Amino acid sequence: MSGTHNIAVIGGDGIGPEVTAETIKVIRAAGVQLNTKEFDLGAARYQRDGEVLSDDTLAELRGFDAILLGAIGPAIGDTSIPPGTLERGLLLRMRFDLDTYINLRPFFGVPGSIAEGCDFVVIRENTEGTYAGEGGFLRKGTPHEVATQGSVNTRFGVERCVRFAFELANSRPAKKLTLVHKTNVLTFSGDLWQRTVNEVAAEYPSVAIDYNHIDAACIYMVEQPGRYDVIVTDNLFGDILTDLAGAVSGGIGFASSANLNPDRTGPSVFEPVHGAAHDIAGQNKANPLAAISSGALMLRHLGEDDAASRIEAVIREFAQDPAAQTASTIEIGDAISGRL
Ligand code: IPM
Ligand code: MN
Repeated sequence: MSGTHNIAVIGGDGIGPEVTAETIKVIRAAGVQLNTKEFDLGAARYQRDGEVLSDDTLAELRGFDAILLGAIGPAIGDTSIPPGTLERGLLLRMRFDLDTYINLRPFFGVPGSIAEGCDFVVIRENTEGTYAGEGGFLRKGTPHEVATQGSVNTRFGVERCVRFAFELANSRPAKKLTLVHKTNVLTFSGDLWQRTVNEVAAEYPSVAIDYNHIDAACIYMVEQPGRYDVIVTDNLFGDILTDLAGAVSGGIGFASSANLNPDRTGPSVFEPVHGAAHDIAGQNKANPLAAISSGALMLRHLGEDDAASRIEAVIREFAQDPAAQTASTIEIGDAISGRL
């Protein structure tokens, strides 16, 4: 694949800019040409001039081939930004407006981790569920206050996510798809998800399907992670389960994610699962492997399969190296670049 890719870079807060810098370094070392433009967004920007994500900035982001994101958020204990301001106003706004309806999170258990040797992918629905923002207050602040927060599940939204998961499962050697939900209690949304999986399954006779309740999946994820190949689940269950999956497969320092718009009606967004970690920011201590893996996912989406595979192979090899535990941010970026 050739040509230059136009990438919007949102380093963000805390360790975000450091890990994205290493990611861009590694991608260039793999021989892929990038034109990058930095966007100053996140907690620091908001605190400076009140911008979260303006319509104009969002319109400009739309024009890029992909968006590479570091981390967004203030330091823990900093209460100056109301909860939800950046989450809803920046991260979810990008996911919803750019229609990145798949949140793809791959996991491979590094040596010594609970999930050592396992290799599975969580497909998290990324535009609906409890994240859709349905609900509100009645009689707020009174003794009779009511707060509702509904879960929005459309046939359209569930089906496009389930179809993506089946396609992925069908392309993998194990060909197994597990729906994770809570159909025994969430009998409306769960029923829609299960029926959709059952119906689409008819088109994929070689994919084996399974079902786990979310609570049981949390046990299996720790006790038998090897049972998973592709998991498909809703937005909130996927959020929680992928933190657990990260913890059992070597730590959140390795967990990558792709917010994909598979229809390509807008750019996709690539970000590590971890946060801004202000406590170690600016000290060249952060592990950039999750960001670099997210960069590899971006390359795959851009059609740079060869470079993506080479970077992923080097990350897996490097993760076995004791140096991976102690090296600095820049040393890790240099080590990966050097091995390519
Ligand atoms: C994630 C994060 C986000 C989410 C937050 C920061 C809005 O936890 O990407 O998993 O809940 O999706
Ligand atoms: Mn999360």
